[in-house]
Amino acid sequence: MPEGIARAWRVACELNPALPSMREGFFMSTDSAPFQRERALPMAKILITSALPYVNGVKHLGNLVGSLLPADVHARFRRQIGDEVLFICATDEHGTPAELGALRAGEAVDEFCTRQHVIQADIYRRFGLSFDYFGRTSSPQNAVLTQHFYRRLDAAGLIDERGLRQVWSPVDQRFLPDRYVLGTCPHCGHGEARGDQCDGCGVLLDPDELIAPRSALSGDTALEIRATRHLFLRQSILVEPLRSWINQRNGWPPFVVSTARSWLTAELRDRCITRDLAWGIPVPRAGFESKVFYVWFDAPIGYIAATQEWAQAAPGRDWQRWWWQADDVGYIQFLGKDNVPFHAVSFPATLLGSGEPWKTVDVIKGFHWLTYEGGKFSTSAQRGVFTDAALEELPADFWRWWLIANAPESADTDFSVPRFVADVNKDLADVFGNLANRVISFVHSAFDGRIPESGEPSELELELAVELDRRIATLRRHHEALEFRAAAAETRAIWSEANAYLQQAAPWVAIKSDRARAAAVTRTGLNLVRLSAVLAWSIIPELSERVLHAFGCGGSIPDWPTGPCLELLDNHAGGTVAKLAPIVVKIDPDKAAHLAQRFGAA
Ligand code: MF3
Ligand code: ZN
Repeated sequence: MPEGIARAWRVACELNPALPSMREGFFMSTDSAPFQRERALPMAKILITSALPYVNGVKHLGNLVGSLLPADVHARFRRQIGDEVLFICATDEHGTPAELGALRAGEAVDEFCTRQHVIQADIYRRFGLSFDYFGRTSSPQNAVLTQHFYRRLDAAGLIDERGLRQVWSPVDQRFLPDRYVLGTCPHCGHGEARGDQCDGCGVLLDPDELIAPRSALSGDTALEIRATRHLFLRQSILVEPLRSWINQRNGWPPFVVSTARSWLTAELRDRCITRDLAWGIPVPRAGFESKVFYVWFDAPIGYIAATQEWAQAAPGRDWQRWWWQADDVGYIQFLGKDNVPFHAVSFPATLLGSGEPWKTVDVIKGFHWLTYEGGKFSTSAQRGVFTDAALEELPADFWRWWLIANAPESADTDFSVPRFVADVNKDLADVFGNLANRVISFVHSAFDGRIPESGEPSELELELAVELDRRIATLRRHHEALEFRAAAAETRAIWSEANAYLQQAAPWVAIKSDRARAAAVTRTGLNLVRLSAVLAWSIIPELSERVLHAFGCGGSIPDWPTGPCLELLDNHAGGTVAKLAPIVVKIDPDKAAHLAQRFGAA
C-alpha cells in the first residue's frame, strides 16, 4: 500500500485503552460488538472482506491462503494497532456449484447449503479466523439487497433484456447452464470438459463447441438449442466511470491493476446476470419467473448483506456506517487472482451503476495460486491438502505460519510436505518455541518464576533495543503494506535476534558469577519472549496466546508495542511467569512420513 493510504489509515492513537476480552466477541459473536470501543481519539475504521468461499465442499489450503487467512492476519493486526475493524465473510451459496453439490449428495439444495455452511464455519473457527460475522449469500437480506440493486440498475437504464439461444434438455425439461453441459474438449480431447471451460487444458469454451455434448444432470444426449430471454448489465457504458474510479485507487498489487485495466477496454462485454436455475435469488420481472440472478451478481452483494446480518444479530450495530456514505472507512478485499475481474469491474459496476453512495473497495489484495507438489490444488479431483484434513494432523498455527510465510503474493508458490515440515520445525520449534521455553524454564530454575528486579541494562541490551525498534517499525510497515511474506520474515528475524541475544548474554553462565547481571538478562529475555509473542499474534494466535497466558495477559487482543524498546525490555520486574509446557512439538520423522503419505502427490 503506498504511503498515502497507509498514512490516512494509520490514525495515530496515543491513548490505547485496554481492550475488552476478545474471546467473548470472537467469531460470529452475538455479544455486543467487542471492537467498537469508546475512543478518546478518532481511529481508523477498516472494513475487511475475504472472497466468499463456495458452499460446496471443504476448501483446500490454496483457498485458505488466497483470501481467508491473509484477511484474518490483517484484521488481527489492525485490531492490535487500535483500529476499528469489521471483518466479514460468508458462504457463496447460489449457482451451479451448490446445485451440483446437492445433487451429488442426494440432498435438497437448501439443506445441503445449511449443512455445508456449518461445516465450513467450524473449520474456520478452528483455524482461528476472527470474522466478526460469517454469513450466507442465501440470506433474506441478500435477496432483498440484490433485487434492490437490480431495480436501481434497471431504473438507470443499465439493464437490457436480450434474446439468446441456449442449450435445452428434453429429458431434464430445462435450459442447461454452460457448466451443466459436458462433452469432449475440441482442443485437447479431454472427455469431461464443461460447457464453460475445459479443466484438461484450461481453455474457455461455449457449450456448442463441445464434441458429443450431454447433460450433466441426466446424461441426456438429445440436447437442443432453443430461444430464451436473459438480462444483461450494460457494463460497456460504464467503462469510463470505472476507469476513472480505478485511477483513483492506490496500493493494488501490480498484477491486480493490470488485470483490471485489461478488462476495461472497448471490448468489455455486457454481462448476463440471469440464469436458468431453480436455486438462487428470484428475478422480479415479468417473464423471468423460472430464472434467478447469476451467482456472480448476488455473491459480492453478499458482503453488504452479511454486514446487515451482523448488524441484526445484536443491538447497537450499524451496517450503514460501513457501507453507506462511508468515506471514513478504509475497505480492503482479499481474493485469488481468478476473482479479480469480478471485484475490480463487475461489482464496482453494480455499486456505481446504482447511483447511490455505496462504499467501494479501496485496496484489492489479490493472490496468485498455491500449487501442490508442482501441480494444481483441485477440489473436483480432491488433490491437495484440505482444511479439515490439515487440522486433523497438526495445530492450526503450523499451517497458518507456513502459508503466510509463503503466501503467493507476487507469483505462484509450491506447497510440498518436506518443505512444510522443514520450515515449521525450524521457525516454530527451533526458533520461536525454543526461545519461549528456554527463557521461561530458566526463570523458574534460577529465580523461582519471578521476573527479577536487580541489574541494569548494559551496552548489549542497548544495542538490542535499537535493533528491535528498527525491526518492529519495519514489521509494522510490512503489515500495513499488506506484505505478508515480508511480515512473516521480519517476525522470524525478530525471534532469531532474540535467540542470538540470549545465546550471547547467556544468563545460565552469568548466574554462576554475577547474579545481578543474570537478573538483567533474564528480565530482558522474558520481555523479549513476550514481545515476540505479541508481534506474532496476528499470524500464530494460538501459540502466541499460550505464551502470553504464562505472563498472565492472555485472552485479549495484545496491543501493538509502542514506545522505545529499551523500556519495554526492562518491564514487568517483580511480576511472575507461569511454567510453560513445550509450546511447539516438532514434527518427527514418523509424522513427516505419515504426512507425506497422506498428502504427498501421487
Ligand atoms: N465463490 C467465489 C470463488 O470461490 C468467490 C466469490 S467472492 C464474492 O471463487 F464476492 F463474489 F462473493
Ligand atoms: Zn481441453
